[in-house]
Amino acid sequence: MTVYQVSHVSVWIIGFGRRTGWVVLMNDELVPHSMAAYRLSVLPGDGTGREVMAEALRILAVFEENSPISFEITEIPCGGQYYLETGEEWPEGSFEHCRDNSDAILLGAIGWPGARLPNGDMAGGQTILGLRSGLELFANVRPVKLYKGVPHKVHGIHKQVWEPDLVDMVMIRENTEGLYHSLLRRMEQRAKGQKDEPIVIDEFPGLEGEVAWDPRPISRKGSERIVKFAFDLAHHRQKKLGTPQSVTCVDKSNVSRGCQLFRKVFREIASEHEGVETKEAYIDAFTMWLVRDPEDLDVVVLPNMFGDIATDLASVLQGGMGMAASANLGPNHMLFEPVHGSSPKYAGKNVVNPIAMLQSVQMMFEAIAYRKNDSNLDCCADILQNAIQEHFDEGGCVTYDLGGDASTSDVGEAIAERCEIMLREQFATA
Ligand code: IPM
Ligand code: MN
Repeated sequence: MTVYQVSHVSVWIIGFGRRTGWVVLMNDELVPHSMAAYRLSVLPGDGTGREVMAEALRILAVFEENSPISFEITEIPCGGQYYLETGEEWPEGSFEHCRDNSDAILLGAIGWPGARLPNGDMAGGQTILGLRSGLELFANVRPVKLYKGVPHKVHGIHKQVWEPDLVDMVMIRENTEGLYHSLLRRMEQRAKGQKDEPIVIDEFPGLEGEVAWDPRPISRKGSERIVKFAFDLAHHRQKKLGTPQSVTCVDKSNVSRGCQLFRKVFREIASEHEGVETKEAYIDAFTMWLVRDPEDLDVVVLPNMFGDIATDLASVLQGGMGMAASANLGPNHMLFEPVHGSSPKYAGKNVVNPIAMLQSVQMMFEAIAYRKNDSNLDCCADILQNAIQEHFDEGGCVTYDLGGDASTSDVGEAIAERCEIMLREQFATA
């Protein structure tokens, strides 16, 4: 069977994620897709990243076994711990493998205490930041939607604070510039084996003695593509969800020049998008609105570092970092990862919540299904999503962050079992 993709060179194709109406953006050629296995590059990384990735692989095996879908998985060791063991952040050729031989990349978490490169940069950064920059994954899509039955932990007590029906937004974090620019660039250069070209600024008038600095360049091109992405997403959520959508621009344009350009571009693009309400907020006040009135937010677009910070805060509305998933999307590549880090404190204990990772797999299914026009994989995306919701509906076991005492693998196994039952029903052959 051959399926043709519907996209053309230079055309942006927008699809929906089922549950959250997040967006899949592509700029692909019209290519025939046979029912061959999807090529996944799997990067477990550090600490608990490895433990949650084990649950992702368990789920992938269940889908392979019980559906027509198959995966060709290349597991690549990487990260700060790998660096401490081997002196390398990942094996040579890994960047090229991710670039040239992957339909999607799945990442656990990167970062380990004491793992630093000789120049002081985080070891393992080549994996996450080298890929974000080197593969132009400019849109970091972080849906913030609350599953029914997930409690919120406030003051050490688990209870429902925010209503599931009122928490449904998508944060779009710019992923290639801003305050991350110089580190992203260094990491891209390392990943591509290129020489570091340091940015030289000799002095800051008015400051004396030792000074460390990070430039925060924000470009028109970078702002345009992320703001357009946000408006396209708002239009499509409007159609899909049937409710009016707003786009909120979050910046600090009262203070920073980069943000002034970001907001100027936002207003220009907003003027081309009638029918979508626009809002503007400074990041400081926004953090307050985010927790107090999340029902007022739909699509939110933020420069890189503000997006990094605000999405950790936003995860609280979904039940915490153990529930927050993300997609890093560019014109030709996509990488999926939980929003959380490697949590060294919990590493090796089999206690962290694997659902953010499983939800990232779910987003990956949706994205590949859309990109490859694969209705079976689309159906698998639904099944994984429904299995997670059903797990909560039926009071399934949960990890400590949600008030339970189940292990990472208990939760992973329970959801995998639900998927298996649903898959058997769906794909049963007579
Ligand atoms: C994230 C992480 C990364 C970031 C780190 C690990 C470099 O915090 O994906 O949010 O700062 O972007
Ligand atoms: Mn972060």
